[in-house]
Amino acid sequence: MIQGKHVTLRGLELEDAPEIALHYNDWEVRRFLNRIAPVSKEDEEEWIRSTWEQRRKGTGYVFGIEVNKSRLLIGSCGLHWMSVTNRSADFGIALYNKAHWNKGYGTEATQLILGYGFNQLNLHRIHLTVFEFNERARHVYEKVGFKHIGRHRQALFRNGRYWDIYVMDILANEFG
Ligand SMILES: CC(C)(COP(=O)(O)OP(=O)(O)OC[C@H]1O[C@@H](n2cnc3c(N)ncnc32)[C@H](O)[C@@H]1OP(=O)(O)O)[C@@H](O)C(=O)NCCC(=O)NCCS
Repeated sequence: MIQGKHVTLRGLELEDAPEIALHYNDWEVRRFLNRIAPVSKEDEEEWIRSTWEQRRKGTGYVFGIEVNKSRLLIGSCGLHWMSVTNRSADFGIALYNKAHWNKGYGTEATQLILGYGFNQLNLHRIHLTVFEFNERARHVYEKVGFKHIGRHRQALFRNGRYWDIYVMDILANEFG
């Protein structure tokens, strides 16, 4: 468990699958994410198992994001594609339950996992990609210290047109 003031990062359980699938199937949420097909409870169970596998292999760490007061699971975040040689990882986050957007939880969860990555896993660099139209996420990432380092031009087709995918990163000495 990684405990913050308002949210806690914890391991995912198979019992979390129905709650995740319920909200993931809301297009307002999914439009910001890579997997665009609707999901079933079984899909999410399989995904949760794959996060355990990543942890066992040491290639990734995925956590559920739980609100401290209510113990409600509202999303997940993770470090993926970890490279021991380069001491780098890819970051991703989604608050599936949109009723909990804009309450500061995403910012806190991002800070918690960056702290874990830099201070416990001894990472040197954490990077991410974010869609051009996801202004809220880009704002949160800038707020915690990620820098825009480039973009994949017209790399995403969504809602009938192409969009850029922004690339951002943060180095250990820039986090604090
Ligand atoms: C992106 C996400 C993780 C952010 O978490 P959150 O808890 O909603 O965000 P927070 O409340 O911590 O912070 C939101 C910030 O964005 C700002 N914001 C909200 N809507 C905005 C918009 N349309 N444009 C710019 N900034 C916006 C808020 O004012 C706030 O900034 P402030 O703290 O400086 O006032 C969450 O909304 C989410 O999971 N969204 C759906 C999935 C997703 O987009 N995942 C990221 C994929 S790269």
